Amino acid sequence: MKIAVSGKGGVGKTTFSGTLAMILAAEGRSVLAVDSDPSMNLHSALGLENPTPISELKEMISERTVLEGGAFKLNPKVDDIPERFSSKKDGLSLLVMGTVEKGGSGCICPESAFLKALLRHLVLKKEEILVMDTEAGIEHLGRNIAEKFDLMIVVCEPSEKAVDTARRVHRLSKEIGIRRVVAVGNKISNQAQEDFIKTALNFEYLGSIPFDSLVIEADMSRKPLYTYLDSPALKSIQKISETLQG
Ligand SMILES: Nc1ncnc2c1ncn2[C@@H]1O[C@H](COP(=O)(O)OP(=O)(O)O)[C@@H](O)[C@H]1O
Ligand SMILES: [Mg+2]
Repeated sequence: MKIAVSGKGGVGKTTFSGTLAMILAAEGRSVLAVDSDPSMNLHSALGLENPTPISELKEMISERTVLEGGAFKLNPKVDDIPERFSSKKDGLSLLVMGTVEKGGSGCICPESAFLKALLRHLVLKKEEILVMDTEAGIEHLGRNIAEKFDLMIVVCEPSEKAVDTARRVHRLSKEIGIRRVVAVGNKISNQAQEDFIKTALNFEYLGSIPFDSLVIEADMSRKPLYTYLDSPALKSIQKISETLQG
C-alpha cells in the first residue's frame, strides 16, 4: 500500500505523516516513510536521524541513469535503494529524497530522473506500507508516479487558503490517476471549523485532528508527537489510522 500526504504548507503534513508512520510501525507493520519535501524534516516526527538524501548520491545516480549520448534510462535499478540508504528503527525505515535543482521548464537532471524512477518502480514487500510526506504542491507528481499510489491524504486546516489548496490537490490527484483521495482536518478548535472544511471540500472526509499545544511542544523539543501519549492530536491520528484500515 502506497500513501501520499499533501496539502498547503504548514497545515501539518509532516506531523501527520510521521505520526501515522509511527502508529502503523508500532502495530507491527513494516513501514517505509519517504520524505520528498526538500526541507527534509520528516525525521524529527519519527525520532530518526536523516539518512543521506538520495539526490546526493550523484555518482551512483549517474552510473545507473545516464545512457551513452546523455539520454536517461527510464528503468534504472532502484530495488536496493531502501535497504541501503534508509535509516531504520524497529519496523520503520526513512528514505529521504533530497533536493534537485529545478530548471525553469522543469528539471531534466539525472537526479530528478532517478528520483522519479525510484517513486515509480519502488516495489514494496508484501504487507509493507509506504507513507510519503510531500512538499506543498503535487505538480511534480506525474501520472506515471501517481498511478502507483493507492491513496492521497490531503491535510487541511480551517483557512480559505488551505481549503483552496486541498481542492486543487484533489482535482489534480484525480486527473493524474490516484485512485482514492481523502481529506483530514487539522488544527480544529470547534465544530464550526470542522464544518467549514467539510462544506468546502466535495470529497471524502476521513476525520479531524484538534489544535493541540502538545504538537507544538513536541516540535520545539524535537521529539515525535508519538511519544506524547496524552496528546489529543495523537489520539485523533490513531483513530484516523483505524478508519483507514477498517
Ligand atoms: N494539531 C496541531 N495543533 C497545533 N499545532 C500544530 C498541529 N499540527 C501541526 N501543528 C504545527 O504547525 C506547524 C506546521 O506543521 P508541519 O507538520 O510541519 O506542517 P507541514 O509539513 O504541512 O508544513 C508546526 O509548527 C506544528 O507544530
Ligand atoms: Mg512538512
